Amino acid sequence: MEKIKLGIVFGGMSTENEVSVKSAMSIINNIDVEKYEVYKIYITKNGEWFDYNKNKKIENVMEYLKYLDVVFPVLHGLYGEDGTIQGLFELLRLPYAGCKVLASSVGMDKVYTKIIFEKAGLLQAKYEYIRKYKDKYFYINKSFDEECLSLEETTERIISNIKFPMYIKPSNSGSSIGINKAKNREELKKYIEVASIYDNKIIVEEGIVGREVECAVLGNEDILVSGVGEIKPADDYYSYEAKYNNKNSITEIPAKIDNELVEKIREQAKKAFKAIDGKGLSRVDFFIEKESNKIYINEINTLPGFTNISMYPKLLEEYGIPYKDLIDRIIKLALT
Ligand SMILES: Nc1ncnc2c1ncn2[C@@H]1O[C@H](COP(=O)(O)OP(=O)(O)O)[C@@H](O)[C@H]1O
Ligand SMILES: [Mg+2]
Repeated sequence: MEKIKLGIVFGGMSTENEVSVKSAMSIINNIDVEKYEVYKIYITKNGEWFDYNKNKKIENVMEYLKYLDVVFPVLHGLYGEDGTIQGLFELLRLPYAGCKVLASSVGMDKVYTKIIFEKAGLLQAKYEYIRKYKDKYFYINKSFDEECLSLEETTERIISNIKFPMYIKPSNSGSSIGINKAKNREELKKYIEVASIYDNKIIVEEGIVGREVECAVLGNEDILVSGVGEIKPADDYYSYEAKYNNKNSITEIPAKIDNELVEKIREQAKKAFKAIDGKGLSRVDFFIEKESNKIYINEINTLPGFTNISMYPKLLEEYGIPYKDLIDRIIKLALT
């Protein structure tokens, strides 16, 4: 039987280039080489494409991709997880792993994720949406009416609507980059400015006090939902440092929580995936509020971290799908 020509695209133009390389190397080391002929494609931070084996620049990306049977974009963040590269594959009619254009862009943009989740009736932290344009801020209400305010006025408006501590996030971000926790007015002001470096759309959320849990989803139509894992960040919250540079951050699989809660989370993970029109795979993240045991959805990651110790593959391993089989299943889902 002829081998399937599989392109693994990694690196990428986002702030998560290094994370992507780690995920991709793990995947490449676990691919069934009897079945797949692997083409490693590295995208630099500047957006140049390289044939990783030949160590040669790909001059004509479209021509190169046309030769492949299927691709797995192992990319995180902008230009990889946000629907842009998915759009390129669509144009080429090239099957690819994971979510399509719409689900990818909705999942990447925290403001639009919130809007869809709200529509789906999923409980989430209270939030405010602002946009920066030149030196001005626009406060955008729930009906998308805009009001031009100074940073000072924006801060006041947010404080009058939601409580501290608050999380300030660039709408398009990942790996906690550009995200900060503010405990007071001064910090809020400062962190709005920090977030605006990464994106002109900014979201400010009320902080949820509780536990952080995650759930893996796999499939196109009939989807499989894993058990639940818990994140125990070494920091006050799951910051970039806590995610990648602090060995004291740990994950616990399965999470030590009531079965009833597990089932609720699994149900909501499925609902969230369907709500954004997800395909292939996603990891859905939640908070369990300490005081009330209420479940708040935080976000959906359409291309979650994929090293062999990452939460997504670990959750599915626990469910009974070993890492190698998982990769094979994801590629098969792309081909159907
Ligand atoms: N509303 C919130 N309440 C409590 N903690 C939060 C909240 N929002 C974010 N966090 C903390 O910040 C981390 C990063 O935020 P998140 O929205 O998941 O961004 P990213 O897409 O970069 O992972 C979370 O893992 C969590 O620890
Ligand atoms: Mg997150």
